[in-house]
Amino acid sequence: MFRVELLEIDRRLSLRPVADGDAEPLYGLIEGDRERLARWLPWAAEQTLAGTREFVAKSRAQQAREDGFQAVLLRDGVVAGIAGYHCIDRLNRATSIGYWLAARHQGEGLMTAAVRALVDHAFGSWGLNRVAIEAAVANRRSRAIPERLGFTEEGVLRESELIAGRFLDGVLYSMLAAEWAARR
Ligand SMILES: CC(C)(COP(=O)(O)OP(=O)(O)OC[C@H]1O[C@@H](n2cnc3c(N)ncnc32)[C@H](O)[C@@H]1OP(=O)(O)O)[C@@H](O)C(=O)NCCC(=O)NCCS
Repeated sequence: MFRVELLEIDRRLSLRPVADGDAEPLYGLIEGDRERLARWLPWAAEQTLAGTREFVAKSRAQQAREDGFQAVLLRDGVVAGIAGYHCIDRLNRATSIGYWLAARHQGEGLMTAAVRALVDHAFGSWGLNRVAIEAAVANRRSRAIPERLGFTEEGVLRESELIAGRFLDGVLYSMLAAEWAARR
């Protein structure tokens, strides 16, 4: 029930669960964009190719145990970033989503479309009730995604993220199944 092969979003964009060959292209994107990614993602500053392979292996294990999945964004078939579920809380029928995109693909609406598809999938295919997204208060581009999709801002999580040695406050957003259905 929790497995997925490919989500085709539109002519230019599809999502597919991370696969073995993805570590190299993903690492290429991280290396080329490290400074920008490291402003908001705790793992980016020190990420190595071995670490990226470990991410791929862990993502495949996550999917195998049906605990959600990490998807690569394929822009015209080329790896452009990642969007995925952190895990599935089956008892509470809830999940949360995280994402990053290569700088050259920013500003095209790709991530908003990808997150919309993941939210659709969480409610429509898995019957979950709640999807959350957290972003650092100052991360305007990230916050714009749940805001664009109509998520509710729930509040500020004090010093919830440790980035480059500094604790940053995060904003928590959520969407409920009934609200998502009403927006469709
Ligand atoms: C967060 C991140 C994925 C957002 O990327 P993004 O390109 O701004 O988001 P989208 O792909 O949804 O694109 C939205 C942009 O495309 C534009 N756009 C064009 N067509 C669009 C469409 N059909 N739908 C929505 N937006 C569209 C929007 O106007 C917006 O541009 P603007 O900010 O200049 O107004 C990216 O900045 C990133 O990877 N940052 C570093 C890592 C990070 O912060 N991750 C999140 C941690 S919580």
